[in-house]
Amino acid sequence: MAMDAVELDDALETILSFVPTLVLKSAILLNIPDIIASAGANASLSVDEIAAKLPSESPNLHYLSRILTYLSMKGIFVQTQTSNNPSDIRYGLTDSAKRFYVRKNNPGSLVPLLLMQAHPVLMAPWHHLHECVLQDCNAFEKAHGKDLWTYGKDEPLVNNVVNDSMSTLTVLGMEQILSCYDGFKDLKTLVDVGGGKGTALAHILKAYPHIHGINFDLPHVVQTTPSIPGIENVGGSMFDSIPIADAIFFKNVLIDWDEESCLQILGNCHKALPENGRLIVAENITEESSRPNKPTEMVVDLVMIALANGGKERSEQEWRRLLQMSGFSVVKMMGLPGLFSKMKIIEAIKV
Ligand SMILES: C[S@@+](CC[C@H](N)C(=O)[O-])C[C@H]1O[C@@H](n2cnc3c(N)ncnc32)[C@H](O)[C@@H]1O
Repeated sequence: MAMDAVELDDALETILSFVPTLVLKSAILLNIPDIIASAGANASLSVDEIAAKLPSESPNLHYLSRILTYLSMKGIFVQTQTSNNPSDIRYGLTDSAKRFYVRKNNPGSLVPLLLMQAHPVLMAPWHHLHECVLQDCNAFEKAHGKDLWTYGKDEPLVNNVVNDSMSTLTVLGMEQILSCYDGFKDLKTLVDVGGGKGTALAHILKAYPHIHGINFDLPHVVQTTPSIPGIENVGGSMFDSIPIADAIFFKNVLIDWDEESCLQILGNCHKALPENGRLIVAENITEESSRPNKPTEMVVDLVMIALANGGKERSEQEWRRLLQMSGFSVVKMMGLPGLFSKMKIIEAIKV
């Protein structure tokens, strides 16, 4: 069968689709977005000027320039040239690079997410995806002999990379959640189960300082959590028991787990809540009526196969079933506008 150049290009782009991620990671590790940003709001620098800020006496300028050229083609840097002289080429930041790849003074930076997803430990499970199909196994466990959450206990660096990454997305997500959901306002105590670094609670308490927040996560996670006024850090496992509070909040936690585990966790929520106690869940929810039609719509779901414990994105109907089986009645399901349009808030009460 004849193959045209475009087809071959498409195939090569798919085969080499790890390249943009890892080249961007190298630019981040070289701190290039921050080097350009610290030169001024709309600064653009030459290869020599960037190289002068690198921690090396003799950086390879050819490699550096090829990395910068490639990332300019990918829309990370803006390349400008005022003459035919190659030393006149300068590199600035696109708006999206300023927003997502500059680290300094930028709580919404996605750099921690990149450093997590492109970390060798987090990439290794992808090499076992086919075994998940053949053996119904956990890819992370296949790669490392234990699941992601247990792995962090013995590997503080990976523990930090994972917790920092989650926290970054939570900064962006909580702004959206608090702008359209006011169900926290009448609570006295709220426990965030799997709350990581306490970022979600910190945002909730900023809006509602009267709440006593309990950030509940595995002991090795809360040990590294910063102390935040109004928030008590409690270490434990949600599979054993959950601290008592007026309401329980979950964000991006139940998506990690299979049905049986979710039922066990939700059963412990039922025990921890008072009569009519509130469960507030923020998760990506798939549409019943439309199948995903772009690869980006399925990426998170596949990350769950590679990194999580049998978890997946669930539909509204699947959520209603899980909650009903655990003794909760759904009061509200509301979508979020803007950036997190796939995420919904589910409010349910204990019956
Ligand atoms: C995907 S992260 C979400 C973190 C946070 N809720 C957020 O949205 O940023 C899942 C969290 O569940 C925590 N976790 C995993 N197993 C747990 C367990 N058995 N008990 C309590 N927390 C657990 C992890 O440590 C991690 O912080």
